[in-house]
Amino acid sequence: MTDTDDRLPRLGLVRNPFPPATTGTGFLTDLSLPDRWEAELRRHIRELADSEGDRALVIEGGYGTGKTFILNWIQAKVLPEYRVKPYFFENPGVAFYDLANRLMRQVGRYEVAKALWELLYPSDAEAQQRLISLEFRQWLATLGNRKSRDRAVQTLTESLRAQDLATDEEILHKLARLIVETGERPYFEYRDFVPRSSQSLVAEQEEPLYFQALVKILGRIANADGIAFLLDEFEDITLPRRLNKSQASAYTGTLRRLLNMAQREDLWIILSITPEGLARTKELDPSLVDRFGHPYSIPALTREEAYGIVIQRLEPARTGGEKGLYPFAEDALDGLQETSFSSPRRLIKIMWHSVGLAVERGESTPLTARLVKEAEERLYAEAPKP
Ligand SMILES: Nc1ncnc2c1ncn2[C@@H]1O[C@H](COP(=O)(O)OP(=O)(O)O)[C@@H](O)[C@H]1O
Ligand SMILES: [Mg+2]
Repeated sequence: MTDTDDRLPRLGLVRNPFPPATTGTGFLTDLSLPDRWEAELRRHIRELADSEGDRALVIEGGYGTGKTFILNWIQAKVLPEYRVKPYFFENPGVAFYDLANRLMRQVGRYEVAKALWELLYPSDAEAQQRLISLEFRQWLATLGNRKSRDRAVQTLTESLRAQDLATDEEILHKLARLIVETGERPYFEYRDFVPRSSQSLVAEQEEPLYFQALVKILGRIANADGIAFLLDEFEDITLPRRLNKSQASAYTGTLRRLLNMAQREDLWIILSITPEGLARTKELDPSLVDRFGHPYSIPALTREEAYGIVIQRLEPARTGGEKGLYPFAEDALDGLQETSFSSPRRLIKIMWHSVGLAVERGESTPLTARLVKEAEERLYAEAPKP
């Protein structure tokens, strides 16, 4: 046991630098992309920021090509530069209320109500006089009886209107009550927001209006220039066998509503999708795909970029000040098939396995191309040759 325990340090590593799960970002704290990807994506996003039309960007790529990684990078590195606040949705459902529910859960009712209250009250002179020293929680505690609650709802409704956060009477009223009733139920449900959503078609068609008001509010209370929804793995649900007819129409309906909203509000829609998912979406609704504009198709990694990705993971995991591919030999990836180094997922998996083999066998440095090749063969022996 102790024997194998000191074998990673003997390779100059504090841990296996490659994540075995081979999804997401793994251990990386400083996300960066190959230069070519970065330049192209930044260009796309710049266009998005300058665009007057639909603010939608589609990241297209097969399994393991780096879609989730790119969305994380956009969230961490790019959106802050535009003062855009991101909301990340992993594997969102097809129906519009799925998305809304997820959003509600992410933001939290108490936080929204508190921030909204802070935004609204100072604009009301009379309330300010009365409430200047009150914190939100204390203010909630003053709403002991029906009369005081009604008065608060009234004041908030006016303030919401004055701030142009909604125009529809019912929505204004609902939002005001949402704040006032926070003390009773601090948790958000989309039902709180949309009345009778499952009962009548009419209410369902009103959903986007409520959602739009919420998007507006989120933008305002985040003190951001816009907000972005990053939708990861929309691809899953577009698999033909998973999507029945009504789900298919819910899916395209959700996308269309999002796009419509993106056009009216400062909302960016950034989604990842597989080529199959995109093709399927196009079959379902060609005009929708047209509105996406040009998708960003993730390119295959070149050999040089593959080296870059491996080095990026090795660097923070090394104990010494070694450079390059250490503890691997400088030509360690040279023997790999093109299908292995062109896909981030496969490459990372092979490297993870190579480190495992080296530890198991007590190999000494530098770790050779032969070892890496062996890891490839063990993992992908049955895989058809390109
Ligand atoms: N640009 C990149 N730099 C470093 N590692 C990456 C990069 N792109 C993807 N990876 C890694 O490859 C694996 C698969 O990426 P992932 O984003 O999960 O793919 P997808 O979402 O397309 O299935 C993950 O381990 C991820 O950390
Ligand atoms: Mg993914």
